[in-house]
Amino acid sequence: MQVQVFPSLLAADFGHLAEGARRAEEAGGDALHIDVMDGVFVPNISMGPAVVAMARREVHIPLSVHLMIVRPDRYVDVFADAGATSLLIHIESEGDISATLKRIRARGLRCGITVNPETPAERLFPVLDAIDEVLCMTVHPGYGGQAFIPETLPKIEAVRRRANDLGHFRLDILVDGGINIETAAQCAARGANCFVAGTFLYQAADMSAMIVALREAAKSALKLFR
Ligand code: DX5
Ligand code: ZN
Repeated sequence: MQVQVFPSLLAADFGHLAEGARRAEEAGGDALHIDVMDGVFVPNISMGPAVVAMARREVHIPLSVHLMIVRPDRYVDVFADAGATSLLIHIESEGDISATLKRIRARGLRCGITVNPETPAERLFPVLDAIDEVLCMTVHPGYGGQAFIPETLPKIEAVRRRANDLGHFRLDILVDGGINIETAAQCAARGANCFVAGTFLYQAADMSAMIVALREAAKSALKLFR
């Protein structure tokens, strides 16, 4: 199971987004995480398909696209065409979740389900064998720079254990929100293997060193409960 670190573009300088994308790649980020917000599913409005297309032109690493939008089913083709590698939809969003996941896979993309802090793990169990990734939100979605919510930790372990029971050993579990070296290690100890970090990485003087440090801390703490 690979431990990966995804810089989150939301924390880059919006006057220089292309440079922010390149910085993530040059620093050794395993993928670039892009947050799409519609102002309805979450109060904030952030980036859309044009930014994903820009990132696809600027970098070669995979693009992890987190859709904080009410109707992700209506945008699968738009984000696939823009060059997303992986599409993460929220279990709390509207539309036919299973059909949307199938559509994402039919377009040749990786698909994932995101769960908000207050949503129980059980909500995603029915589709667990149909997805490549689970994103456990460790803050309330919508804004960067928030404090990590430790009450979300048991859910990560519940998802990992359920995936093991299903024989889904290649499931990536991502965590997103308030991730730094300390919180990444806490999440890895519950079974998370991919770490989205915005503020922590973009505000670092040496992003590359922090990516290495975060990856190493998570590797040492990782538990897979098999
Ligand atoms: C929040 C976004 C995150 C955000 C994380 O809704 O999903 O990806 O960029 O930011 P930090 O790492 O600053 O908490
Ligand atoms: Zn995100």
